[in-house]
Amino acid sequence: MFLESVESEINITPEYEEDFLIAMNQIRRRMEATINRFLDFARPQEPIFSWVSVAELIEEALLVIGPRAKQQETIIQVSLDGDLPMIRGDRKQLEEALLNLLVNALEAVRHRGQVTISAGRGEMPTNAGPRRCVRLEIKDTGPGITAENLAKLFDPFFTTKATGAGLGLAIVYSTIHRHGGEILVQSTVGQGTSFALLIPLETM
Ligand SMILES: Nc1ncnc2c1ncn2[C@@H]1O[C@H](COP(=O)(O)OP(=O)(O)O)[C@@H](O)[C@H]1O
Ligand SMILES: [Mg+2]
Repeated sequence: MFLESVESEINITPEYEEDFLIAMNQIRRRMEATINRFLDFARPQEPIFSWVSVAELIEEALLVIGPRAKQQETIIQVSLDGDLPMIRGDRKQLEEALLNLLVNALEAVRHRGQVTISAGRGEMPTNAGPRRCVRLEIKDTGPGITAENLAKLFDPFFTTKATGAGLGLAIVYSTIHRHGGEILVQSTVGQGTSFALLIPLETM
């Protein structure tokens, strides 16, 4: 952009005009190639479906996040319904989604506070009528989210954190939708936030 703007302001002698244009085009081509490679890398992967136990997903996520919770003295309470069925899903992607929500919950409560993970059977509305699903909920006693921010929550790069990337929820959103699921948010400023993942039990 700098070169484009100086191009019209400096006098490039005809002798260098061609070289200047070649250099500009090279820069543009290389920039485009780099951006395309980055987008390829960031392109969401199609889920590789297998049978996944929600209880195991939570266990795995707690192994990763447990030490961090302990460090900030936050108790993570887990409550699972007894008849929890297995779901069809990509284990790695679902675990990443759960971790993103747990990291956000821990960052929201900051110190002490409470995070609750619960899972059970539920129902979700679809165009083809209600479908049975597993409902996985992550609840925190953090500061909550304002109505204004709720609208932008799943936008890539939306963040209110000084060093946040703003990608966590965008990734959760695309993962859950690629599983045919839904994500619901409920938040009250000053009380806390709850994210519910609805993952359908039978694929259409
Ligand atoms: N549990 C939560 N409580 C309060 N705010 C939240 C919570 N989860 C997400 N947010 C808000 O949504 C924003 C986007 O979250 P996310 O996509 O994970 O990016 P990041 O964590 O890098 O900011 C956060 O910056 C925060 O403002
Ligand atoms: Mg995050």
